[in-house]
Amino acid sequence: MISHTLGRVYPVALTIAGSDSGGGAGIQADLKTFAALQVHGTVAITSLTAQNTYEVTMVHDVPLDMIEEQIRVVYRDLGIDAAKSGMLHNSQIIDVVSKVLADYDFPYVLDPVMIAKSGAKLLRDDAINALLKKLFPRATIVTPNRFEAERIVGYEIKSLSDAEKAAEDIISLGPDAVVVKGGHIGGEYSIDVFYDGRNFRHFKALRVDSKSTHGTGCSFSAAITAFLARGYSLEDSVEKAKKFITISIAYGLEMGRGSGPVNPMAYLFNEASRYIVLEELYSFVKKLSSLGWIEGLIPEVGMNIAYSTPYPMDEGDIAAFPGRIRYSDGLIYGYPRFGVSRHLSRYILKMRRLGCDVRTAMNIRYEEALIQALKEKGYRIGFYDRRREPREVKEVEGRSVEWGVEEAYRGAGGCLDVIYHLGDWGKEPMIVLLARDLSTLLKILEDIRVVFK
Ligand SMILES: Nc1ncnc2c1ncn2[C@@H]1O[C@H](COP(=O)(O)OP(=O)(O)OP(=O)(O)O)[C@@H](O)[C@H]1O
Ligand SMILES: [Mg+2]
Repeated sequence: MISHTLGRVYPVALTIAGSDSGGGAGIQADLKTFAALQVHGTVAITSLTAQNTYEVTMVHDVPLDMIEEQIRVVYRDLGIDAAKSGMLHNSQIIDVVSKVLADYDFPYVLDPVMIAKSGAKLLRDDAINALLKKLFPRATIVTPNRFEAERIVGYEIKSLSDAEKAAEDIISLGPDAVVVKGGHIGGEYSIDVFYDGRNFRHFKALRVDSKSTHGTGCSFSAAITAFLARGYSLEDSVEKAKKFITISIAYGLEMGRGSGPVNPMAYLFNEASRYIVLEELYSFVKKLSSLGWIEGLIPEVGMNIAYSTPYPMDEGDIAAFPGRIRYSDGLIYGYPRFGVSRHLSRYILKMRRLGCDVRTAMNIRYEEALIQALKEKGYRIGFYDRRREPREVKEVEGRSVEWGVEEAYRGAGGCLDVIYHLGDWGKEPMIVLLARDLSTLLKILEDIRVVFK
């Protein structure tokens, strides 16, 4: 018997918000986010909503004394390290929440939810003033989206400088800090403007072209709350929450007729898979080293194999062998690490952005016979000519591979198992094998071994 539980210190976060029966936003998104970020989630439900991915059909407000009691009973027993609020449907609910929060001093993230993704009103017009007057001054940070910020400040927000001006005006309402979210301000990047009354910071991520954005705002503010509960500074919490929400959107769930739910679990599974990815990759190359004919595949510049986590966002999520794999009386390789092969990572990331299911890439020596063998086995093969690479592409670090992959993809008209090029001045010709997992990659290798017989 173990005499006590082994997990003793565990931060507690509270969400004061509405329930979303579709599981995409509200309390449901908040609890998933808290769990994914290793804090214990507690709840004070303010309203029940009947909703799916495209409509809210009914709202039932919870009695005021019940809202109050949910918060007090949790605090009394479990303690609260940080709290957030989401949907507060009317001014009476706002009154009671502000009365209760005034009794405690834990950090408080206020997401001024006004309208659902589907367009339904989640805050009555007459309650907006109550929110600004009674709750904004208590907030550690408020997180309006573009439309909420516009409603608060009374002018349009179309640019970063508009967002900065709005942030200044919102700070004057009393919160310690504000982040004006960029989800609805167009552009290649989704940029959130943070301001704490002294400094501005921009948190920036590539915009994901996705319909699965139900619950982005809830999960984002819940993530800030979770990091605050864990003791991070406000700025660090926002920075980490931004990373968290970006992967949750990039791997959002495509379900329902409207906006599908974001996927707060993507972050957790990605982190959890890191050790397995390294071990699988290491075993894979060990297996390869027992194949006699492998030597013939190694290019002069060395060979590498890259393998990504299930939800990669950048090269930091892709493992490979530092210093590449070489041959001298057998394969010479070290232990794989993340972020060590920019080159192959770019193949994987670019293919994924084109919508192809690719998690692993391996570069091998170019030989026409190899291409021939791959063709005969029916693999999808793409080609690009490095001599045609435009000068402006050559000049930007890291653009070459993206350009090449796109050329090959367009030329072949779809996803590919193999991409090759014939080199250029000082560049060795190369074949890159692409696969959805390591066993598929092994199958490709076995299919070309005939060349070495
Ligand atoms: N398409 C996107 N690609 C990348 N990031 C996005 C995208 N849409 C929103 N975000 C980010 O998600 C977070 C939430 O912002 P958003 O403006 O969508 O909130 P919201 O409108 O309150 O969401 P909700 O409607 O779920 O309440 C911000 O960090 C924002 O930059
Ligand atoms: Mg929102």
